Amino acid sequence: MTTILVTGGAGYIGSHAVLALKQAGYEVVVLDNLSNGHREIVEEVLQVKLIVGDTSDRQLLDQIFTTHDIAAVMHFAAYIAVGESVTDPGKYYRNNVIGTLTLLEAMLAASINKFIFSSTCALYGVPKFVPLTEGHPQDPISPYATSKWMVERILADFDPAYNLKSVRFRYFNAAGADPNGLLGEDHEPETHIIPLVLFAALGKRETIAIFGTDYPTRDGTCIRDYIHVADLAQAHILGLEYLLKGGESEVFNLGNGSGFSVREVIETAQKVTGKELKIVERDRRPGDPPILVGSSDKAQQILGWNPQYPNLNEIISHAWQWHQKRHK
Ligand SMILES: NC(=O)c1ccc[n+]([C@@H]2O[C@H](COP(=O)([O-])OP(=O)(O)OC[C@H]3O[C@@H](n4cnc5c(N)ncnc54)[C@H](O)[C@@H]3O)[C@@H](O)[C@H]2O)c1
Repeated sequence: MTTILVTGGAGYIGSHAVLALKQAGYEVVVLDNLSNGHREIVEEVLQVKLIVGDTSDRQLLDQIFTTHDIAAVMHFAAYIAVGESVTDPGKYYRNNVIGTLTLLEAMLAASINKFIFSSTCALYGVPKFVPLTEGHPQDPISPYATSKWMVERILADFDPAYNLKSVRFRYFNAAGADPNGLLGEDHEPETHIIPLVLFAALGKRETIAIFGTDYPTRDGTCIRDYIHVADLAQAHILGLEYLLKGGESEVFNLGNGSGFSVREVIETAQKVTGKELKIVERDRRPGDPPILVGSSDKAQQILGWNPQYPNLNEIISHAWQWHQKRHK
């Protein structure tokens, strides 16, 4: 059996990737420091080996790579809160850049040269055109996005120098939950709109805020690209198979291609949950572009990726199923 190391496999997207890997017949080892992840998800729900530790622990990495016959690494581990990265950038550069560099060096020392990286559409900055393609200029506007941009630069340099082959996936907004209700999104603190709206539906929040209602969009609220987490996980299997077959380093957007406005998200959540939500309209937030929608044509053409759940209703229904179970 081919064994894959998944860093951050106790987190939201990583845990869905572990499930997809298991279903595709891979053996999985998870490395997670549990700063934001959930032990029980890995050990009880996914039932794969969990090593509790940090990507910046070189000694531990060396030990993992000598104990297990790892064919490739999927690297989800990172800090992800954009706002916090502005007030505490050092935390983000240390974890997301130095942690990744340590991991890459340990991989190379163990002669492992296949790497799948969780990057972000945030590295494009304020869009000059939409849908965003992989060739759009890169101009990250937060330390979080810059940390991902830096790792992408490192990967671009490590291929010609050390023959490290990587697939860099630039996700748009990961959303939804495992369609069978096994896994879901459980961040602390939660900053993503779909879980926040569902918290309001569960009575865990009184109101839901819309930041800006005068954008030049169809209903005045910001439009974003929500991609189902199970479709993201499937793209990782395809990216892995691409590298295992000897594919060259590549970068791919992973998005839905169609955008949904904040109001559409709230209205769909009201329909799905059957709850009337109390909406508060606030001023625009600085740095929020009106529309962020990506083109994933390249992933569809080269990897044969074919998202199964592009429908917002389905994305929110799966998330709702999980949140009801989680907060019972
Ligand atoms: N959620 C999104 O919409 C989105 C969008 C674009 C990119 N991404 C990227 O996808 C990846 C996964 O995001 P997520 O939403 O699942 O986040 P998450 O916080 O749920 O998962 C990250 C996991 O990594 C672990 N971790 C963090 N630093 C670590 C370290 N140094 N060593 C070991 N484990 C560590 C955490 O405990 C957590 O389990 C991240 O790299 C993120 O930047 C996410």
